Amino acid sequence: MHRFQINSYPAYQKAYKRSIEEPEAFWDEIASSFVWRKKWTKTLEWDFTKPEVKWFQGGQLNITENCLDRHLEKRANQTALIFEPNNPNDAAQYFTYKALHSKVCQFANVLKANNVKKGDRVCIYMPMVPELTFAVLACARIGAVHSVVFAGFSAAALSARINDAACKVLLTADGGFRGDKITPLKSIADDALKTCPSIEKTIVLNRTNSEVIMQANQVWWHEELSKVDDNCPVEIMDAEDMLFILYTSGSTGKPKGMVHTCGGYMVYTAYTFRNVFQYRSSRAVTLGREATRAGGPDVYWCTADIGWITGHSYIVYGPLANGATTVMFEGVPSYPDYGRFWEICEKHKVNQFYTAPTAIRALAKHPINLAENYNLKHLKTLGTVGEPINDEAWNWYNDYVGKGKCPIVDTWWQTETGGIMISSLAGVTRSKATYATLPLPGIQPVLLDENGEEIVGNPAQGILAIKFPWPSIARTIYGNHERYKNVYFSAYKGKYFPGDGALRDEVGDYRITGRVDDVIIVSGHNLGTAPIENAINEHEAVVESAVVGFPHDIKGNALYAYVILYDGYTASDELLQSIRQKVADTIGPIAKPDKIQFTQGLPKTRSGKIMRRILRKIAHNDTTNLGDTSTLLNPEVVQSIIDDAI
Ligand code: WTA
Repeated sequence: MHRFQINSYPAYQKAYKRSIEEPEAFWDEIASSFVWRKKWTKTLEWDFTKPEVKWFQGGQLNITENCLDRHLEKRANQTALIFEPNNPNDAAQYFTYKALHSKVCQFANVLKANNVKKGDRVCIYMPMVPELTFAVLACARIGAVHSVVFAGFSAAALSARINDAACKVLLTADGGFRGDKITPLKSIADDALKTCPSIEKTIVLNRTNSEVIMQANQVWWHEELSKVDDNCPVEIMDAEDMLFILYTSGSTGKPKGMVHTCGGYMVYTAYTFRNVFQYRSSRAVTLGREATRAGGPDVYWCTADIGWITGHSYIVYGPLANGATTVMFEGVPSYPDYGRFWEICEKHKVNQFYTAPTAIRALAKHPINLAENYNLKHLKTLGTVGEPINDEAWNWYNDYVGKGKCPIVDTWWQTETGGIMISSLAGVTRSKATYATLPLPGIQPVLLDENGEEIVGNPAQGILAIKFPWPSIARTIYGNHERYKNVYFSAYKGKYFPGDGALRDEVGDYRITGRVDDVIIVSGHNLGTAPIENAINEHEAVVESAVVGFPHDIKGNALYAYVILYDGYTASDELLQSIRQKVADTIGPIAKPDKIQFTQGLPKTRSGKIMRRILRKIAHNDTTNLGDTSTLLNPEVVQSIIDDAI
């Protein structure tokens, strides 16, 4: 068995207890199973009031040596990465550890040849193709900081992210396949680049054979590759050197570039991957009384996009640090039909499958249950992430995909936490519909009341906070440590505040109840209300707007925008579409409101603050108890909004 695999409930309890009582000794031991060029001298230094967290100080390593080189001795010919293309008629691609190592080294040399140096930021705006994985790891290999921007973001969103981190190089592709569409990534990138003075070079992958116009300082990926070899020694990094920046929406202001560092991130993602999914490097097959090893390593598939943290931690780094076989999928669950996920599970004999509630709901709602048409017998673990999973979706997943035999791990975590925080360990700790259940070893959650007092005892409900650091906590917001402090460490002194509410039942299992701030999760994507309102307000016809969420069968939440128009503009379908387009252009198609209601006014407090609580209730079609509206500046507007509600 693997050194840090927890394989029984008592073993979990023991690990958890030790992680609380002796956190440094606990993580020391786990960290020791990796390759370090120099051992750390101080395991942990922390102060949540500054805030400052440092793990494994003095230690030196390279994460790609742990994800690639160290596996070459035993696993050179094991498949590391399986690429399943958008079109099911195109061949899947298989990369062994040896091949992946070579690809990463080669592209690392391309980056070097294009003047990328340790510490430089590289923006990656790419479709879900193997080259994206090579590029991410190539950056890590030479100590460049990757900033992956999801390929569904608009030119304006891309440009803002490039500029925030002053990226030096942009990696993109001519286009990306998604179902029956091609996203014109290169032309979106060119639009973005009009306002990105820091970019010195753009390297373009040919993926879709789309026609693109290459401009000055833009080069083709394949041409650059032909100039280099695959010999690239690792850059030695300090444990606390930056590994990557990944942007996440805040409830206000511009996106936050969360900074993750090399050592702690590696240790925590590897540890949690192994334990939550119960990944096995070799499948134990019981023959008579002897357990024999047979059948090779498990095949693990996470359906996320590498543009999000789930893809970073649980497609790339966590699995590869464990020498696992990880699948990446270019397409969408509905192409060519709603059976695609299950077809892929059957084809690649997937053992662990990790997806989002929104995908489960979309598949469950489909009139024909396509999961029945495929052989899913290899599945052992099912996972979910991104938002609370409702009972119905959980049960469908359990009944039709897991056939009642696969434990479901409902994993609660965030871009900021780097790795899974609260979740069951598949088959090891109990799994319970709609509950993330128990904290992982090293994680100390608490529930707080409105006054910030810890609620002791069970059951309890309140605001979720974490009172002790774990190795993969984000260290700062790139270029804005003050904001990092304000958003996460100021609401409740001395504690990390994730922005979620939770309840704890009689036996201490956690259930995440949802955001307690103005972040709305739509199809698993975090969207801040303020940036969307700003985008709407930029429309020439709009005076002001307010955006709230409302429940949606498949997306979980959808966006409801209340919009005040300037005199001279009248509500029309055309205007509505152009406002939605404005949001798509500014942020991305995922942020387009489902409903737009034109209104004469918005309910405001006397200090001028929009009363979202009222708007939320109206959007939820629940106007029975709006509370006291008499203190509003403009109480009369409420009834007219109710009358016109969609
Ligand atoms: C929500 C995704 C309930 C939560 C890894 C969190 C969840 C935000 C769950 C982070 C879950 C994520 N149950 N809610 N299992 N997982 N969330 O940064 O509100 O994209 O704060 O990270 O998603 O989203 P992010």
